[in-house]
Amino acid sequence: MIRNPVFCALDTTDPQAALALSRRLAGLVGGLKLGLEFFSANGPQGVRAVIEGGLPLFLDLKFHDIPNTVAGAVRAAVRLGPAMTTLHACGGREMMAAAVDAAADAAAKWDVVRPRLLAVTVLTSMSQSDLAQSGVADPLLDQVKRLAALAQEAGVDGVVCSPHEVEALRAQCGPNFHLVIPGIRPAWAAANDQKRVLTPVEAMAKGADWLVIGRPITAAADPALAAGRIQDELAGGAS
Ligand code: C5P
Repeated sequence: MIRNPVFCALDTTDPQAALALSRRLAGLVGGLKLGLEFFSANGPQGVRAVIEGGLPLFLDLKFHDIPNTVAGAVRAAVRLGPAMTTLHACGGREMMAAAVDAAADAAAKWDVVRPRLLAVTVLTSMSQSDLAQSGVADPLLDQVKRLAALAQEAGVDGVVCSPHEVEALRAQCGPNFHLVIPGIRPAWAAANDQKRVLTPVEAMAKGADWLVIGRPITAAADPALAAGRIQDELAGGAS
């Protein structure tokens, strides 16, 4: 059976809605992404309830703090058994290396699989002028590539990147570095507020490993049908 690369983003504070979606999507997506919105409202207990059906978890908490604090947060997150979790590359090499060590230690301690650590480089909500205001005058893609290289050197497993960046990062980082891509829209779905989109098949062809897809599934009249349609497109190679 072909690996399903789709993590469905459940961007909600409502635990019942998230649980209902997780039940409907079992077998139709590769996993679920829960982020700051859900976690802030429902905490670890809420996360446990949503993943009880067994779908892999992408816990997207985007850690960014001093190394000791991030290491502690990663250790706590690992207890939830996520397949993937995130941190900001601009926290620096030492912070990322501390997170890598903490993930390995905690996974051994709790007897769970070590989650893949993914770095966020430059948030895609940031423009070139936002970057300049933060003191970085270089072209945005250069900064993305620099932070991805730093993450890779620190032992991080991959990055979350935009559809625009995937080819350059695949070329730079090699085949084993995980590239996780949001901003995915099937040809039949609305773009919503995503400005640069790729279809699932296009993103995989450009070198993505995993796709984060939210509203094309969660806001569909029938989420299971939408997820199944994406699964079929990926299996058949149609866009
Ligand atoms: O609904 P939609 O498919 O746009 O959801 C995309 C998900 O990916 C959301 O959880 C969003 O926060 C996340 N994301 C994104 N763009 C990024 C990073 C994360 O859309 N650059």
